[in-house]
Amino acid sequence: MYLPQLLARAEKGEKLSVLTCYDASFARLLVDNGVDVLLVGDSLGMTVQGHTSTLPVTLEQMIYHTDAVVRGAAGGAFVVADLPFGSYQKSPQQAFDAAAKLMAVGANMVKLEGGAIMLESVRFLSQRGIPVCAHLGLLPQSVNLTGYRAQARDASTATQLLQDASDLESAGAQMLVLESIPAVLAETVTQRLRIPSIGIGAGPYCNAQVLVLQDLLGLTPKPPRFSKNFMAGAGDLAAAIRAYVAAVKSGEFPGPEHTF
Ligand code: KIV
Repeated sequence: MYLPQLLARAEKGEKLSVLTCYDASFARLLVDNGVDVLLVGDSLGMTVQGHTSTLPVTLEQMIYHTDAVVRGAAGGAFVVADLPFGSYQKSPQQAFDAAAKLMAVGANMVKLEGGAIMLESVRFLSQRGIPVCAHLGLLPQSVNLTGYRAQARDASTATQLLQDASDLESAGAQMLVLESIPAVLAETVTQRLRIPSIGIGAGPYCNAQVLVLQDLLGLTPKPPRFSKNFMAGAGDLAAAIRAYVAAVKSGEFPGPEHTF
């Protein structure tokens, strides 16, 4: 699937379902059960590798997992791959070199974290044929600065996030993840931007929702408050994935108990 088809569906008001995915068999399962976008997230540092953060994940590992997911998805979903910590922050050229490797194994888009500091790189990549998903709010690669805490909760940081979102769109970002920010702020960003917002812990008003697959499947010992275990009562993996997709499409997830 190519970007224009995906954007056209969001434009028509369809809520997009997004899940993290790290291997071929889950990619097949997610595609077969209607997930629109597979995010090869650097959260694999925690879910697959057992680290306490995303920071140890390397570009080579992201290429390996993206390659597997692309083959499993076999064109049935849009695949976004994370640029891992240290692979893109130095310069637009470094970002391009890393992103090109992920695109070469079949990613449809790359995701990078950060606001103003990333504008030049977002422009550089998007002008050279690489679609970019930006990521604002809680930035897991900056956990050493912020901890895993909700972000943009006061007026000045909320204003900064709004400005960053708008600047990222102008620089060429085609989608925007909003992580762990107040629902009203995510609503404002979503209304002001033309590109789809993808919420995680950002309330119900985004154009798309993403969850970490292991959180959805009830495999995470201490899952974040905003996630939901869709395995509970589902019977099997396929039913859990279908329940998630249906809940996102209908707007039932995230409900008030998953919003702050
Ligand atoms: O790596 C990841 O799983 C992510 C999501 C939290 C959006 O970036």
